[in-house]
Amino acid sequence: PLRLVVLVSGSGSNLQALIDAATDPGAPFRVVAVGADRDGTLGLERAVGNGIPTFVCRVPDYTTRADWDEALARLISDAAPDLVVSAGFMKVLGPTVLARHRVINTHPALLPSFPGAHGVRDAMAHGVRVTGCTCHWVDAGVDTGAIIDQRAVRIEDDDTVETLHERIKVLERDMLVEVVRALAQHRTWQGPDGLSSGRE
Ligand code: GAR
Repeated sequence: PLRLVVLVSGSGSNLQALIDAATDPGAPFRVVAVGADRDGTLGLERAVGNGIPTFVCRVPDYTTRADWDEALARLISDAAPDLVVSAGFMKVLGPTVLARHRVINTHPALLPSFPGAHGVRDAMAHGVRVTGCTCHWVDAGVDTGAIIDQRAVRIEDDDTVETLHERIKVLERDMLVEVVRALAQHRTWQGPDGLSSGRE
């Protein structure tokens, strides 16, 4: 099976969806490690509760951002993943991680609209009536990599950032699991360059 390292910063509900899907007999992927940029997140607890090895790599523990990037790349390499999934990881990945690993990200807006740390809030503030979530390859930019899949969600008049984000996350979890399954089964391997290509 495809070996996944999942990176989290928060509640880890997307991580949980991947862990759950991986328990299916015959699932084409499994979560081999979970990494975080902070201690004490629910995402790390979910990993521990499921017997999955974890690591923490905090920016303030390193002199430079480049040192942090190097350390994170090494911690990821230790788990020998085929694919890294950034699932609510709230740090921009550096060049060393991206040179050594294939990374996908999930984002709570319809990219290229509303990139960054506040995709749900920014979509609401703009007054769009439809938003959603995007799964994409990670490149050097912020949420700029080639899009793999998207799901749309209507914004209701009585939505708050919280109610809207919860509705987005329901679709986001399904999307992420389907994308990872498709990548693991080589059904889609749209590369980071945006071109569709066979994996080997
Ligand atoms: C998800 O909605 C994810 O798209 C978002 O954080 C949430 C994490 O939820 N990520 C970003 O906003 C990245 N810019 P989770 O911790 O429950 O999986």
